[in-house]
Amino acid sequence: MTESLTVRDNRTGTEYEVPITDGTIRAADIGKIKASEDTPGLAVYDPGFVNTASCRSSITYIDGDKGILEYRGYPIEQLAEKSSFLEVAYLLIHGDLPTKEQYEAWVHHITYHTFVHENVKDFMQGFRYDAHPMGMLMASVGALSTFYPESRNISDADNRNIQIIRMIAKMPTLGAWSFRHAQGKPYVYPDNSLDYSGNFLSMLFKMSETQYEPDPRLVKALDTLLILHADHEQNASTNAVRSVGSTQVDPYSAVSAGVAALFGPLHGGANEAVLRMLKRIGTVDNIPSFIEGVKNGDERLMGFGHRVYKNYDPRAKLIKKAAEDVFEVTGTNPLLDIAVELERIALSDEYFVKRKLYPNVDFYSGLIYEALQFPPEFFTVLFAIGRTPGWLAQWLELTQDKEQKIARPKQIYTGERGLTFTPAEERWA
Ligand code: CMC
Repeated sequence: MTESLTVRDNRTGTEYEVPITDGTIRAADIGKIKASEDTPGLAVYDPGFVNTASCRSSITYIDGDKGILEYRGYPIEQLAEKSSFLEVAYLLIHGDLPTKEQYEAWVHHITYHTFVHENVKDFMQGFRYDAHPMGMLMASVGALSTFYPESRNISDADNRNIQIIRMIAKMPTLGAWSFRHAQGKPYVYPDNSLDYSGNFLSMLFKMSETQYEPDPRLVKALDTLLILHADHEQNASTNAVRSVGSTQVDPYSAVSAGVAALFGPLHGGANEAVLRMLKRIGTVDNIPSFIEGVKNGDERLMGFGHRVYKNYDPRAKLIKKAAEDVFEVTGTNPLLDIAVELERIALSDEYFVKRKLYPNVDFYSGLIYEALQFPPEFFTVLFAIGRTPGWLAQWLELTQDKEQKIARPKQIYTGERGLTFTPAEERWA
C-alpha cells in the first residue's frame, strides 16, 4: 500500500503527491500547493486544533474511542492502584520506571526542595483576602523564575533537571499557602518527615499540633488523584506550556501559562463548575428539568464530554472508586446521589448517547474534594499540582525536539486593507 495522498488542485490541474507518515500529512507539504508561483501556498484552517498534531510525543497515549490512557506505555489503572505519585512523576519525566536507587534519590531531592524563599511567602501574603487560589498559584509559580534566574539557561541538562525537581517539590507548598491565605490561617512550612501527599495535607490542615498525622487512607486517595491528573497529552494547558515554552523562556514562566489555561471552566475549572452545578440542581427531583435545559442549549452538563474521549473517561471510573474510599473516612457527600442519578439519566438519554458524551475526570473529583473540606475554588489547584510533572515532561520533550519551532499559527485575515488614516482632531472636528 502506498503511504501517500494524491491531491489534484482543480484551480491549476496540477497533481501533488503528499507523503503520509504516522497517519498524518505535513502541513508544509500542503503549503507547496499554489495557484500560481507568486501566491501563498495552501494552508490548513483548524480552530481549536481539532485535527492537527502539533508534536511527536512518547509520553502519554490515549485511545479516546476505547477509553484507554497510558503513561509511557503503562495503563493508568495499574499506576493508580500500584504506584505512587512521585514514581509516576519520575516515569513521566525520565521515560522509564526508576531503580530503587534512582527512586530514593528522586524522592530525597523532591522532599528537600519543598521550602520556598521567605520572600515568596511575603508576596503571597500581599494578595487580597479573597484572592482566587488559582490566581495566586499562577502568579507565584511564575514569580519563581525571578528567584532562579539561571533557569533561563534551558540548554543545560543539569539546570533543567534541578528546575524540574524544584517545581514538583514547591507546587504543593504554593498551593497549600493559597488555600490557607483565603482562610486567614498561618502558612504551614513543609514537613520533610512526611511523604509527598502527607506533607501536602499537613501544609493544608495542620494547626497547633507539633506533628500532623494524616489519615493514610486520605493520603492514598489524594496520591491516586494526583496520579490520575498527571498527564493527558496535548490538552489546552499542555499546549499552553509547549507554546510558551517554544519561545525558550524558563520553565516557571511556561508552567505558569499552563496554570492559567487550566483555570478556565472548560478545562481544569470544570471540577469547580460541576460542584456548583450539583448544588444548584439541589435535589434529584430537579434533574429532569435541568437535563431539558442542557438539551435546549440553556445549560451545559459540566463534567461531561471530552474532545478526545468518546467513551467513559478511564480516570472517571477510578475517581468514582477513590470517592468511595474517601467517603468511608469522611462520610458520604449528599451531592453524590444527585451526581449518580444525573449520570444514569444522561447516559440513557439520546442527546448524550448520540454525541458520545460520558462523564470525564471532573465529574466525580469535586465530590471527593468537598468531602476533604476543600472549597470549590481550590479544586483546580489540586489538578494543577497533579498535572505539573506532565507539563514538565512535555516541556522537557519540547526542548529536546529538533523539529520544534516557535509556535506561531497562521490566520485567515478578514479585515480591511490599505485604508488612509485621518488624525483624530480631523475625524472629530
Ligand atoms: N453538555 C451538553 N452538551 C455538550 C457537552 C456538555 N458537557 N459537551 C459537549 N456537548 C455537545 C455540544 O453542544 C455539541 O453539540 P452539537 O453537535 O449539537 O453542537 C457536541 O456535544 C460536541 O461538543 P463540542 O463542544 O464540539 O466538543 P469539544 O470537543 O469542542 O468540547 C469539552 C469538549 C470538554 C470542552 C465539552 O465537552 C464541554 O464543554 N464539557 C463540559 C466542560 C468539562 O467538563 N470540561 C472538562 C474536560 S475534561 C478535563 C480537562 O481536560 O480539563
